[in-house]
Amino acid sequence: MKYHSKGVVNSAEAMMVLGGQIADHFPHGGLVFLKGDLGVGKTTLVRGLLRHLGFKGTVKSPTYALVEPYHIKGRDLYHFDLYRLADPEELEYMGIRDYLSSSALCLIEWPEKAHGFLPPENLSVLVEHDDEARNVHLISDDSFDINQ
Ligand SMILES: Nc1ncnc2c1ncn2[C@@H]1O[C@H](COP(=O)(O)OP(=O)(O)O)[C@@H](O)[C@H]1O
Ligand SMILES: [Mg+2]
Repeated sequence: MKYHSKGVVNSAEAMMVLGGQIADHFPHGGLVFLKGDLGVGKTTLVRGLLRHLGFKGTVKSPTYALVEPYHIKGRDLYHFDLYRLADPEELEYMGIRDYLSSSALCLIEWPEKAHGFLPPENLSVLVEHDDEARNVHLISDDSFDINQ
Protein backbone atom coordinates (compact mmCIF):
# COMPACT_ATOMS: atom_id res chain seq x y z
CA MET A 1 0.00 0.00 0.00
CA LYS A 2 1.15 3.55 -0.77
CA TYR A 3 0.32 6.73 1.10
CA HIS A 4 -0.76 9.75 -0.93
CA SER A 5 -0.42 13.34 0.23
CA LYS A 6 -1.21 16.41 -1.87
CA GLY A 7 -0.48 20.09 -1.45
CA VAL A 8 0.17 23.39 -3.18
CA VAL A 9 3.76 24.65 -3.33
CA ASN A 10 3.52 28.28 -4.34
CA SER A 11 7.12 29.40 -4.77
CA ALA A 12 10.61 28.16 -5.59
CA GLU A 13 11.54 28.87 -1.96
CA ALA A 14 8.73 26.62 -0.74
CA MET A 15 9.91 23.95 -3.18
CA MET A 16 13.35 24.14 -1.59
CA VAL A 17 11.82 23.78 1.88
CA LEU A 18 10.10 20.60 0.70
CA GLY A 19 13.50 19.35 -0.45
CA GLY A 20 14.81 19.88 3.08
CA GLN A 21 11.91 17.87 4.51
CA ILE A 22 12.75 15.03 2.16
CA ALA A 23 16.39 15.10 3.30
CA ASP A 24 15.25 14.78 6.92
CA HIS A 25 12.80 12.04 6.05
CA PHE A 26 15.53 9.80 4.60
CA PRO A 27 18.52 10.08 6.98
CA HIS A 28 19.66 6.55 6.04
CA GLY A 29 19.17 6.86 2.30
CA GLY A 30 16.44 5.88 -0.09
CA LEU A 31 15.19 6.15 -3.62
CA VAL A 32 13.17 9.20 -4.62
CA PHE A 33 11.59 9.75 -8.04
CA LEU A 34 10.96 13.33 -9.18
CA LYS A 35 8.33 13.51 -11.90
CA GLY A 36 6.86 16.41 -13.85
CA ASP A 37 7.33 18.50 -16.99
CA LEU A 38 10.44 20.50 -17.79
CA GLY A 39 10.58 23.65 -15.67
CA VAL A 40 8.21 22.41 -12.99
CA GLY A 41 10.77 22.60 -10.16
CA LYS A 42 12.42 19.19 -9.78
CA THR A 43 15.97 20.56 -9.70
CA THR A 44 14.84 23.37 -7.40
CA LEU A 45 13.68 20.74 -4.90
CA VAL A 46 17.06 19.00 -5.06
CA ARG A 47 18.84 22.35 -4.64
CA GLY A 48 16.83 22.99 -1.47
CA LEU A 49 17.55 19.50 -0.20
CA LEU A 50 21.30 19.94 -0.66
CA ARG A 51 21.27 23.47 0.82
CA HIS A 52 19.37 22.15 3.84
CA LEU A 53 22.19 19.66 4.43
CA GLY A 54 24.74 22.47 4.19
CA PHE A 55 25.97 22.21 0.60
CA LYS A 56 27.19 25.63 -0.53
CA GLY A 57 28.09 25.04 -4.18
CA THR A 58 26.14 25.33 -7.41
CA VAL A 59 23.43 22.74 -8.05
CA LYS A 60 22.63 22.20 -11.70
CA SER A 61 20.72 19.37 -13.24
CA PRO A 62 23.22 16.77 -14.53
CA THR A 63 21.49 16.59 -17.88
CA TYR A 64 24.58 15.48 -19.81
CA ALA A 65 26.53 13.63 -17.13
CA LEU A 66 23.28 11.92 -16.02
CA VAL A 67 24.46 11.81 -12.41
CA GLU A 68 26.10 14.19 -9.95
CA PRO A 69 27.48 12.77 -6.70
CA TYR A 70 27.49 14.68 -3.42
CA HIS A 71 29.10 13.83 -0.11
CA ILE A 72 27.76 16.11 2.62
CA LYS A 73 28.40 15.66 6.34
CA GLY A 74 28.88 11.92 6.05
CA ARG A 75 25.91 11.41 3.74
CA ASP A 76 26.15 10.19 0.17
CA LEU A 77 23.65 11.59 -2.29
CA TYR A 78 23.29 11.03 -6.02
CA HIS A 79 21.27 13.38 -8.20
CA PHE A 80 20.26 11.84 -11.53
CA ASP A 81 18.65 13.56 -14.50
CA LEU A 82 17.71 10.91 -17.04
CA TYR A 83 16.05 13.29 -19.51
CA ARG A 84 18.71 12.59 -22.14
CA LEU A 85 19.00 8.89 -21.48
CA ALA A 86 18.82 7.32 -24.93
CA ASP A 87 18.91 3.70 -23.90
CA PRO A 88 18.28 2.34 -20.39
CA GLU A 89 21.27 0.04 -20.90
CA GLU A 90 23.48 3.11 -20.39
CA LEU A 91 22.47 2.82 -16.76
CA GLU A 92 24.22 -0.52 -16.54
CA TYR A 93 27.40 0.96 -18.01
CA MET A 94 27.38 3.81 -15.52
CA GLY A 95 27.10 1.28 -12.71
CA ILE A 96 23.68 2.30 -11.46
CA ARG A 97 23.38 -0.83 -9.33
CA ASP A 98 26.25 0.36 -7.15
CA TYR A 99 24.59 3.72 -6.58
CA LEU A 100 21.26 2.19 -5.73
CA SER A 101 22.55 -0.57 -3.48
CA SER A 102 24.48 1.84 -1.33
CA SER A 103 23.02 3.59 1.69
CA ALA A 104 22.87 6.79 -0.36
CA LEU A 105 19.88 8.99 -1.03
CA CYS A 106 19.24 8.77 -4.78
CA LEU A 107 17.11 11.48 -6.35
CA ILE A 108 16.05 10.75 -9.91
CA GLU A 109 14.57 13.28 -12.33
CA TRP A 110 12.83 11.64 -15.29
CA PRO A 111 12.74 8.08 -13.88
CA GLU A 112 10.23 7.31 -16.66
CA LYS A 113 13.19 7.19 -19.08
CA ALA A 114 14.51 4.15 -17.23
CA HIS A 115 11.18 2.43 -16.85
CA GLY A 116 11.67 -1.19 -15.86
CA PHE A 117 15.36 -0.67 -15.07
CA LEU A 118 15.00 0.87 -11.61
CA PRO A 119 13.93 -0.77 -8.35
CA PRO A 120 10.72 0.39 -6.67
CA GLU A 121 11.04 3.86 -5.18
CA ASN A 122 10.43 4.82 -1.55
CA LEU A 123 8.86 8.14 -2.57
CA SER A 124 7.52 9.62 -5.78
CA VAL A 125 7.17 13.38 -6.00
CA LEU A 126 4.77 14.35 -8.80
CA VAL A 127 4.77 18.04 -9.67
CA GLU A 128 2.23 19.78 -11.91
CA HIS A 129 1.99 23.39 -13.02
CA ASP A 130 -0.91 25.29 -11.44
CA ASP A 131 -0.53 28.77 -12.96
CA GLU A 132 2.41 30.31 -11.07
CA ALA A 133 2.25 27.71 -8.29
CA ARG A 134 2.65 23.95 -8.34
CA ASN A 135 0.50 21.07 -7.21
CA VAL A 136 2.67 18.44 -5.58
CA HIS A 137 1.73 14.84 -4.83
CA LEU A 138 3.81 12.68 -2.53
CA ILE A 139 3.34 8.96 -2.98
CA SER A 140 5.30 7.09 -0.35
CA ASP A 141 5.83 3.81 1.47
CA ASP A 142 5.23 5.50 4.79
CA SER A 143 2.98 8.39 5.75
CA PHE A 144 4.97 11.36 4.52
CA ASP A 145 2.59 14.31 4.77
CA ILE A 146 3.41 17.35 2.59
CA ASN A 147 1.41 19.62 4.94
CA GLN A 148 3.27 18.66 8.12
N1 LIG B 1 6.82 25.73 -6.55
C1 LIG B 1 7.24 26.63 -7.46
N2 LIG B 1 6.46 27.67 -7.78
C2 LIG B 1 6.87 28.54 -8.71
N3 LIG B 1 8.04 28.47 -9.39
C3 LIG B 1 8.84 27.46 -9.11
C4 LIG B 1 8.49 26.48 -8.15
N4 LIG B 1 9.48 25.55 -8.10
C5 LIG B 1 10.41 25.95 -8.99
N5 LIG B 1 10.06 27.09 -9.61
C6 LIG B 1 10.81 27.77 -10.68
O1 LIG B 1 10.65 27.01 -11.86
C7 LIG B 1 11.80 27.15 -12.69
C8 LIG B 1 12.27 25.82 -13.21
O2 LIG B 1 12.68 25.01 -12.14
P1 LIG B 1 13.61 23.72 -12.29
O3 LIG B 1 13.84 23.26 -10.90
O4 LIG B 1 14.80 23.98 -13.13
O5 LIG B 1 12.66 22.69 -13.07
P2 LIG B 1 12.91 21.19 -13.58
O6 LIG B 1 14.12 20.64 -12.92
O7 LIG B 1 11.65 20.47 -13.19
O8 LIG B 1 13.05 21.28 -15.07
C9 LIG B 1 12.83 27.88 -11.86
O9 LIG B 1 12.87 29.22 -12.33
C10 LIG B 1 12.30 27.82 -10.45
O10 LIG B 1 12.67 28.96 -9.71
MG1 LIG C 1 15.81 19.62 -13.76
